[in-house]
Amino acid sequence: LRIDDLDLDGSGARVDELADQGAAVLTPAHQFPLGMALAAQRRNQAVAWARSSGGLLVEDDYDGEFRYDRAALGAMQALAPDQVAFAGTASKSLAPGLRLSWLVVPPAWLDDVVEAKRLADRFTGVFDQLALADLIDSGGYDRHIRRCRLVYRRRRDRLVAALARRAPDVTVAGLAAGLHALLELPARLLEVDAVRGAGARGLAVEGLSAYAVAPSETRSALVVGYATPPEHAFTTALARLCAALAA
Ligand SMILES: Cc1ncc(COP(=O)(O)O)c(C=O)c1O
Repeated sequence: LRIDDLDLDGSGARVDELADQGAAVLTPAHQFPLGMALAAQRRNQAVAWARSSGGLLVEDDYDGEFRYDRAALGAMQALAPDQVAFAGTASKSLAPGLRLSWLVVPPAWLDDVVEAKRLADRFTGVFDQLALADLIDSGGYDRHIRRCRLVYRRRRDRLVAALARRAPDVTVAGLAAGLHALLELPARLLEVDAVRGAGARGLAVEGLSAYAVAPSETRSALVVGYATPPEHAFTTALARLCAALAA
């Protein structure tokens, strides 16, 4: 497959750059890793592209359960169910090790997708799927998400407050949803040094350039997931991160 990259701006992916590609993969609810939502006009533009070109849109809703300061955004898939394949996962809501996720596939693609999945891995574990279905049916999944949303929101707010105190020249972005934030670094701090400084304090964070197609062109920033440390370790992890970034 040939892969073309879309540029990004404050409204998300530049879907006006789509041309003769067969498919486009987007994260409309929360761009990964920069964290902005795809603007309504861009969603419409992407759907118009798919309708006129026959291309497939893949809507990767990898952390859609976790929205904090805004009403839930509707799925782009609802605008054009025949053009958009919607993908969700239990990786953020339950655990990445479960390897459970779901696809809502346009009818014309369904048989091919099922066949490709069968050839890829002979189907996902049935008992795991039944256990998840039971959790959803019982209302337990919804209760779990609501509880986690509060926990993660509190962590996110603590991250922002701690950085404002200890490293006020670090700008935090991409906060409206998900389990990670983008920490834009001031000129005094090189990304590579920030990653190394965090690593020396026992924290695994990644630089934005690790995700970039053209690393030299990216802003200097860290991608920091705040869901990982267990509750008892979060205060220490936050203090160490601040120490690594403090002036
Ligand atoms: C952009 C993006 N898509 C999808 C996923 C989920 O992947 P998986 O369901 O394979 O764990 C992630 C996980 O971090 C992600 O960052």
